[in-house]
Amino acid sequence: MRHAVLAGLGAAVPEQRITNAMLAERMDTSDEWIRSRTGIAERRRVGPEESTSDLAVAAGRRALESAGGEPVDAVVVATTTPDHTCPATAPVVASRLGLGTVPAFDVAAVCSGFVYGLFTAAGLIAQGGAGRVLVIGAEAFSTIINPDDRTTAPIFGDGAGAVVLRAGDETEPGALLEFALGSDGSLADLIIVPAGGARQRSSGKPAAPDDHYFQMQGKTVFMHAVLRMEESSREVLRRAGWDTSSVDLLVGHQANIRILHAVADRLDIPAERAFVNLGHYGNTSAASIPLALDEAAATGALKAGDRVLLTAFGGGVTWGSVALRWPDLAAA
Ligand code: COA
Repeated sequence: MRHAVLAGLGAAVPEQRITNAMLAERMDTSDEWIRSRTGIAERRRVGPEESTSDLAVAAGRRALESAGGEPVDAVVVATTTPDHTCPATAPVVASRLGLGTVPAFDVAAVCSGFVYGLFTAAGLIAQGGAGRVLVIGAEAFSTIINPDDRTTAPIFGDGAGAVVLRAGDETEPGALLEFALGSDGSLADLIIVPAGGARQRSSGKPAAPDDHYFQMQGKTVFMHAVLRMEESSREVLRRAGWDTSSVDLLVGHQANIRILHAVADRLDIPAERAFVNLGHYGNTSAASIPLALDEAAATGALKAGDRVLLTAFGGGVTWGSVALRWPDLAAA
Protein backbone atom coordinates (compact mmCIF):
# COMPACT_ATOMS: atom_id res chain seq x y z
CA MET A 1 0.00 0.00 0.00
CA ARG A 2 1.19 3.54 -0.74
CA HIS A 3 2.02 5.50 2.40
CA ALA A 4 1.83 9.24 2.99
CA VAL A 5 5.27 10.71 3.68
CA LEU A 6 5.87 14.15 5.17
CA ALA A 7 7.72 16.21 2.55
CA GLY A 8 7.27 19.86 3.57
CA LEU A 9 6.40 22.03 6.55
CA GLY A 10 5.48 25.68 7.16
CA ALA A 11 3.66 28.01 9.52
CA ALA A 12 2.36 31.56 9.80
CA VAL A 13 0.93 33.65 12.63
CA PRO A 14 -0.58 37.13 12.66
CA GLU A 15 1.54 40.05 13.86
CA GLN A 16 -0.65 41.23 16.70
CA ARG A 17 0.35 39.87 20.16
CA ILE A 18 -2.17 39.86 23.00
CA THR A 19 -0.42 39.48 26.34
CA ASN A 20 -2.00 38.33 29.59
CA ALA A 21 -1.51 41.85 30.96
CA MET A 22 -3.58 43.24 28.07
CA LEU A 23 -6.39 40.79 28.87
CA ALA A 24 -6.22 41.70 32.57
CA GLU A 25 -6.92 45.32 31.64
CA ARG A 26 -10.16 44.24 30.01
CA MET A 27 -11.49 41.48 32.28
CA ASP A 28 -11.25 40.14 35.82
CA THR A 29 -8.17 37.95 35.40
CA SER A 30 -4.42 38.08 35.98
CA ASP A 31 -1.18 37.04 34.32
CA GLU A 32 -0.56 34.73 37.29
CA TRP A 33 -3.96 32.96 36.96
CA ILE A 34 -3.65 32.43 33.22
CA ARG A 35 -0.03 31.21 33.36
CA SER A 36 -0.57 28.86 36.28
CA ARG A 37 -3.87 27.38 34.99
CA THR A 38 -2.99 27.15 31.29
CA GLY A 39 0.73 27.82 30.68
CA ILE A 40 -0.16 30.62 28.25
CA ALA A 41 1.64 33.99 28.33
CA GLU A 42 0.43 35.50 25.06
CA ARG A 43 -1.47 34.65 21.91
CA ARG A 44 -1.70 36.09 18.37
CA ARG A 45 -4.77 37.77 16.94
CA VAL A 46 -5.71 38.56 13.34
CA GLY A 47 -5.88 42.21 12.31
CA PRO A 48 -9.12 43.89 11.15
CA GLU A 49 -8.79 42.85 7.49
CA GLU A 50 -7.17 39.48 8.14
CA SER A 51 -8.88 36.08 8.03
CA THR A 52 -8.28 32.34 8.11
CA SER A 53 -7.49 32.00 4.40
CA ASP A 54 -4.75 34.67 4.66
CA LEU A 55 -2.97 32.66 7.36
CA ALA A 56 -3.61 29.41 5.46
CA VAL A 57 -2.10 30.81 2.25
CA ALA A 58 1.03 32.06 4.08
CA ALA A 59 1.58 28.73 5.90
CA GLY A 60 0.72 26.72 2.78
CA ARG A 61 3.20 28.68 0.66
CA ARG A 62 6.00 27.96 3.14
CA ALA A 63 5.14 24.25 3.25
CA LEU A 64 5.15 24.07 -0.56
CA GLU A 65 8.55 25.80 -0.67
CA SER A 66 9.95 23.48 1.98
CA ALA A 67 8.74 20.53 -0.14
CA GLY A 68 10.68 21.80 -3.16
CA GLY A 69 7.94 23.83 -4.85
CA GLU A 70 6.34 20.94 -6.75
CA PRO A 71 2.59 21.20 -7.41
CA VAL A 72 0.11 19.18 -5.34
CA ASP A 73 -2.94 17.18 -6.41
CA ALA A 74 -5.30 18.20 -3.59
CA VAL A 75 -5.67 20.75 -0.77
CA VAL A 76 -7.26 20.00 2.60
CA VAL A 77 -7.88 22.85 5.04
CA ALA A 78 -8.77 21.95 8.62
CA THR A 79 -10.55 24.85 10.29
CA THR A 80 -13.30 25.76 12.72
CA THR A 81 -13.27 29.36 11.57
CA PRO A 82 -13.76 29.25 7.79
CA ASP A 83 -13.83 32.63 6.02
CA HIS A 84 -17.52 31.94 5.31
CA THR A 85 -20.12 29.35 6.32
CA CYS A 86 -20.42 28.76 2.57
CA PRO A 87 -18.27 28.08 0.55
CA ALA A 88 -15.36 26.16 2.04
CA THR A 89 -12.03 27.95 2.57
CA ALA A 90 -9.77 25.41 0.80
CA PRO A 91 -10.72 26.29 -2.83
CA VAL A 92 -9.86 29.95 -2.22
CA VAL A 93 -6.57 28.93 -0.61
CA ALA A 94 -5.71 26.60 -3.53
CA SER A 95 -6.52 29.33 -6.03
CA ARG A 96 -4.47 31.98 -4.21
CA LEU A 97 -1.54 29.56 -4.03
CA GLY A 98 -1.70 29.17 -7.81
CA LEU A 99 -2.47 25.47 -7.59
CA GLY A 100 -4.91 25.50 -10.49
CA THR A 101 -8.14 23.54 -10.31
CA VAL A 102 -7.09 20.80 -7.90
CA PRO A 103 -9.73 19.30 -5.58
CA ALA A 104 -9.86 21.40 -2.41
CA PHE A 105 -12.10 20.98 0.61
CA ASP A 106 -12.37 21.73 4.32
CA VAL A 107 -12.32 19.31 7.23
CA ALA A 108 -14.10 20.33 10.43
CA ALA A 109 -13.02 18.55 13.61
CA VAL A 110 -12.19 21.61 15.75
CA CYS A 111 -8.92 21.04 17.66
CA SER A 112 -8.51 17.54 16.18
CA GLY A 113 -8.92 19.01 12.68
CA PHE A 114 -5.29 18.74 11.61
CA VAL A 115 -5.07 15.06 12.59
CA TYR A 116 -8.34 14.46 10.71
CA GLY A 117 -6.83 16.33 7.74
CA LEU A 118 -3.73 14.10 7.79
CA PHE A 119 -5.97 11.02 7.99
CA THR A 120 -8.00 12.20 4.97
CA ALA A 121 -4.93 13.09 2.92
CA ALA A 122 -3.18 9.82 3.78
CA GLY A 123 -6.32 8.01 2.59
CA LEU A 124 -6.29 9.91 -0.73
CA ILE A 125 -2.65 8.98 -1.21
CA ALA A 126 -3.13 5.32 -0.24
CA GLN A 127 -6.10 4.97 -2.59
CA GLY A 128 -4.17 6.54 -5.48
CA GLY A 129 -6.41 9.61 -5.80
CA ALA A 130 -3.48 11.94 -5.17
CA GLY A 131 0.31 11.76 -5.23
CA ARG A 132 0.90 14.96 -3.23
CA VAL A 133 -1.49 16.73 -0.85
CA LEU A 134 -1.20 20.05 0.97
CA VAL A 135 -2.79 19.81 4.43
CA ILE A 136 -3.29 23.08 6.31
CA GLY A 137 -4.62 23.74 9.81
CA ALA A 138 -5.68 27.39 10.00
CA GLU A 139 -7.71 29.40 12.47
CA ALA A 140 -8.81 32.95 13.12
CA PHE A 141 -10.23 31.61 16.36
CA SER A 142 -10.41 35.04 17.96
CA THR A 143 -13.30 35.82 15.58
CA ILE A 144 -15.60 33.39 17.44
CA ILE A 145 -14.38 34.19 20.97
CA ASN A 146 -16.25 36.63 23.18
CA PRO A 147 -13.49 39.16 23.98
CA ASP A 148 -15.03 39.70 27.44
CA ASP A 149 -15.31 36.02 28.40
CA ARG A 150 -12.51 35.23 30.82
CA THR A 151 -13.11 31.49 30.53
CA THR A 152 -12.24 31.38 26.80
CA ALA A 153 -10.51 34.62 25.72
CA PRO A 154 -7.23 33.82 27.53
CA ILE A 155 -7.02 30.33 26.06
CA PHE A 156 -7.42 30.66 22.30
CA GLY A 157 -5.25 32.24 19.61
CA ASP A 158 -4.92 32.53 15.84
CA GLY A 159 -2.41 30.93 13.47
CA ALA A 160 -1.78 28.38 10.74
CA GLY A 161 0.51 25.48 10.02
CA ALA A 162 0.82 23.27 6.97
CA VAL A 163 2.47 20.14 5.65
CA VAL A 164 2.92 18.58 2.23
CA LEU A 165 2.38 14.82 2.10
CA ARG A 166 3.63 12.76 -0.83
CA ALA A 167 3.20 9.13 -1.82
CA GLY A 168 6.02 6.93 -0.61
CA ASP A 169 6.99 3.86 1.29
CA GLU A 170 6.39 3.08 4.97
CA THR A 171 10.11 2.46 5.52
CA GLU A 172 10.98 6.04 4.50
CA PRO A 173 11.62 8.70 7.16
CA GLY A 174 8.56 10.91 7.29
CA ALA A 175 6.09 8.05 6.73
CA LEU A 176 2.80 8.40 8.60
CA LEU A 177 2.73 4.88 10.01
CA GLU A 178 -0.49 4.53 11.95
CA PHE A 179 -3.63 6.46 12.88
CA ALA A 180 -6.16 6.04 15.72
CA LEU A 181 -9.10 8.46 15.52
CA GLY A 182 -12.50 8.65 17.16
CA SER A 183 -15.51 10.78 18.02
CA ASP A 184 -18.38 10.95 20.49
CA GLY A 185 -21.19 13.23 19.34
CA SER A 186 -23.15 12.65 22.54
CA LEU A 187 -20.74 15.22 24.03
CA ALA A 188 -21.22 17.81 21.26
CA ASP A 189 -22.52 20.42 23.72
CA LEU A 190 -19.20 20.56 25.62
CA ILE A 191 -17.61 22.71 22.90
CA ILE A 192 -20.10 24.63 20.80
CA VAL A 193 -21.02 27.81 18.97
CA PRO A 194 -24.80 27.54 19.53
CA ALA A 195 -25.96 29.99 16.83
CA GLY A 196 -25.31 30.64 13.16
CA GLY A 197 -25.85 27.08 11.92
CA ALA A 198 -28.90 25.33 10.48
CA ARG A 199 -30.14 24.17 13.92
CA GLN A 200 -30.59 27.69 15.24
CA ARG A 201 -31.61 29.23 11.90
CA SER A 202 -34.32 26.63 11.26
CA SER A 203 -35.77 27.27 14.73
CA GLY A 204 -36.98 30.63 13.42
CA LYS A 205 -35.94 32.20 16.74
CA PRO A 206 -33.37 34.96 16.86
CA ALA A 207 -30.19 33.94 18.64
CA ALA A 208 -29.06 35.48 21.90
CA PRO A 209 -25.97 37.62 21.15
CA ASP A 210 -23.67 35.35 23.21
CA ASP A 211 -24.82 32.31 21.24
CA HIS A 212 -22.72 33.43 18.30
CA TYR A 213 -19.64 32.96 20.46
CA PHE A 214 -17.68 29.83 21.24
CA GLN A 215 -18.74 28.19 24.52
CA MET A 216 -16.88 25.49 26.39
CA GLN A 217 -17.38 23.49 29.59
CA GLY A 218 -13.70 23.73 30.48
CA LYS A 219 -13.46 21.35 33.42
CA THR A 220 -15.34 18.50 31.69
CA VAL A 221 -13.43 19.08 28.45
CA PHE A 222 -10.18 18.86 30.41
CA MET A 223 -11.12 15.44 31.75
CA HIS A 224 -12.23 13.98 28.41
CA ALA A 225 -9.21 15.47 26.62
CA VAL A 226 -6.72 13.73 28.92
CA LEU A 227 -8.60 10.43 28.75
CA ARG A 228 -9.03 10.34 24.96
CA MET A 229 -5.54 11.59 24.15
CA GLU A 230 -4.06 8.92 26.39
CA GLU A 231 -6.29 6.16 24.96
CA SER A 232 -5.75 7.01 21.30
CA SER A 233 -2.00 7.43 21.91
CA ARG A 234 -1.83 3.96 23.42
CA GLU A 235 -3.83 2.57 20.51
CA VAL A 236 -1.67 4.14 17.80
CA LEU A 237 1.52 3.04 19.58
CA ARG A 238 0.15 -0.50 19.83
CA ARG A 239 -0.62 -0.50 16.09
CA ALA A 240 2.87 0.85 15.31
CA GLY A 241 4.49 -1.71 17.62
CA TRP A 242 6.19 1.04 19.67
CA ASP A 243 6.21 1.22 23.45
CA THR A 244 5.82 4.59 25.12
CA SER A 245 9.47 4.68 26.21
CA SER A 246 10.56 4.65 22.55
CA VAL A 247 8.70 7.88 21.71
CA ASP A 248 11.28 10.61 21.09
CA LEU A 249 8.79 13.49 20.97
CA LEU A 250 5.15 13.80 21.92
CA VAL A 251 3.60 16.64 19.95
CA GLY A 252 0.19 17.04 21.51
CA HIS A 253 -2.54 19.52 20.69
CA GLN A 254 -1.49 22.68 22.54
CA ALA A 255 -4.64 23.07 24.67
CA ASN A 256 -3.29 23.61 28.15
CA ILE A 257 0.08 22.77 29.69
CA ARG A 258 -1.63 20.80 32.44
CA ILE A 259 -3.42 18.65 29.83
CA LEU A 260 -0.16 18.03 27.94
CA HIS A 261 1.71 17.09 31.10
CA ALA A 262 -1.13 14.87 32.34
CA VAL A 263 -1.16 12.97 29.03
CA ALA A 264 2.64 12.60 29.05
CA ASP A 265 2.57 11.49 32.68
CA ARG A 266 -0.10 8.83 32.05
CA LEU A 267 1.92 7.52 29.11
CA ASP A 268 5.14 7.53 31.19
CA ILE A 269 6.72 9.95 28.73
CA PRO A 270 9.01 12.40 30.59
CA ALA A 271 7.73 16.00 30.47
CA GLU A 272 10.85 17.14 28.59
CA ARG A 273 9.84 14.86 25.69
CA ALA A 274 6.44 16.56 25.42
CA PHE A 275 6.83 19.55 23.10
CA VAL A 276 5.23 22.75 24.39
CA ASN A 277 4.88 26.06 22.54
CA LEU A 278 1.45 27.18 23.76
CA GLY A 279 3.12 29.79 25.97
CA HIS A 280 3.36 32.18 23.01
CA TYR A 281 0.43 31.03 20.86
CA GLY A 282 -2.26 29.69 23.21
CA ASN A 283 -4.63 27.08 21.83
CA THR A 284 -4.80 27.62 18.07
CA SER A 285 -7.20 24.71 17.50
CA ALA A 286 -6.59 23.02 14.11
CA ALA A 287 -3.35 25.00 13.68
CA SER A 288 -1.78 23.92 16.95
CA ILE A 289 -0.07 20.66 15.92
CA PRO A 290 1.48 21.93 12.65
CA LEU A 291 2.56 25.15 14.41
CA ALA A 292 4.22 23.00 17.08
CA LEU A 293 5.86 20.73 14.46
CA ASP A 294 7.22 23.75 12.61
CA GLU A 295 8.75 25.21 15.78
CA ALA A 296 10.04 21.84 16.98
CA ALA A 297 11.78 21.30 13.63
CA ALA A 298 13.19 24.84 13.55
CA THR A 299 14.58 24.65 17.09
CA GLY A 300 16.11 21.18 16.71
CA ALA A 301 13.65 19.51 19.09
CA LEU A 302 12.79 17.20 16.17
CA LYS A 303 15.58 15.33 14.45
CA ALA A 304 15.54 13.06 11.41
CA GLY A 305 14.59 9.52 12.41
CA ASP A 306 12.80 10.52 15.63
CA ARG A 307 9.73 8.54 16.59
CA VAL A 308 6.99 11.14 16.86
CA LEU A 309 3.57 10.78 18.45
CA LEU A 310 0.89 13.33 17.54
CA THR A 311 -2.26 13.45 19.63
CA ALA A 312 -5.26 15.77 19.66
CA PHE A 313 -8.68 16.26 21.19
CA GLY A 314 -11.36 18.74 20.18
CA GLY A 315 -14.98 19.67 19.80
CA GLY A 316 -17.40 17.12 18.40
CA VAL A 317 -16.01 15.66 20.54
CA THR A 318 -13.26 14.26 18.36
CA TRP A 319 -9.78 12.91 18.95
CA GLY A 320 -6.95 11.28 17.09
CA SER A 321 -3.31 10.20 17.23
CA VAL A 322 -0.67 9.55 14.60
CA ALA A 323 2.66 7.71 14.78
CA LEU A 324 5.36 8.85 12.36
CA ARG A 325 9.12 8.85 11.83
CA TRP A 326 10.46 12.37 11.47
CA PRO A 327 12.04 13.06 8.05
CA ASP A 328 15.15 15.07 7.23
CA LEU A 329 13.21 18.26 6.68
CA ALA A 330 13.88 21.95 6.98
CA ALA A 331 11.01 24.35 7.68
CA ALA A 332 10.83 27.14 5.06
N1 COA B 1 -9.07 34.43 35.44
C1 COA B 1 -9.33 34.32 36.74
N2 COA B 1 -10.22 33.43 37.23
C2 COA B 1 -10.84 32.63 36.36
C3 COA B 1 -10.61 32.71 34.98
C4 COA B 1 -9.69 33.66 34.53
N3 COA B 1 -9.37 33.81 33.23
N4 COA B 1 -11.38 31.79 34.36
C5 COA B 1 -12.06 31.15 35.32
N5 COA B 1 -11.75 31.67 36.53
C6 COA B 1 -12.24 31.29 37.84
C7 COA B 1 -13.56 30.56 37.77
O1 COA B 1 -14.63 31.49 37.71
C8 COA B 1 -13.54 29.76 39.04
O2 COA B 1 -13.94 30.60 40.11
P1 COA B 1 -14.87 29.99 41.28
O3 COA B 1 -14.05 28.88 41.88
O4 COA B 1 -15.05 31.17 42.17
O5 COA B 1 -16.10 29.51 40.60
C9 COA B 1 -12.06 29.43 39.23
O6 COA B 1 -11.34 30.36 38.43
C10 COA B 1 -11.70 28.03 38.79
O7 COA B 1 -12.30 27.83 37.52
P2 COA B 1 -12.24 26.47 36.81
O8 COA B 1 -13.02 26.51 35.54
O9 COA B 1 -12.54 25.40 37.80
O10 COA B 1 -10.68 26.43 36.49
P3 COA B 1 -9.85 25.27 35.85
O11 COA B 1 -8.71 24.97 36.71
O12 COA B 1 -10.72 24.14 35.36
O13 COA B 1 -9.26 26.00 34.56
C11 COA B 1 -9.61 26.05 32.20
C12 COA B 1 -10.14 26.46 33.56
C13 COA B 1 -10.59 26.52 31.13
C14 COA B 1 -8.26 26.70 32.01
C15 COA B 1 -9.46 24.52 32.18
O14 COA B 1 -10.65 23.91 32.59
C16 COA B 1 -9.09 24.00 30.84
O15 COA B 1 -8.02 24.29 30.33
N6 COA B 1 -9.95 23.20 30.23
C17 COA B 1 -9.70 22.62 28.96
C18 COA B 1 -9.89 23.67 27.94
C19 COA B 1 -9.30 23.27 26.66
O16 COA B 1 -8.14 23.01 26.56
N7 COA B 1 -10.15 23.22 25.65
C20 COA B 1 -9.78 22.90 24.36
C21 COA B 1 -9.60 21.45 24.27
S1 COA B 1 -9.69 21.07 22.64
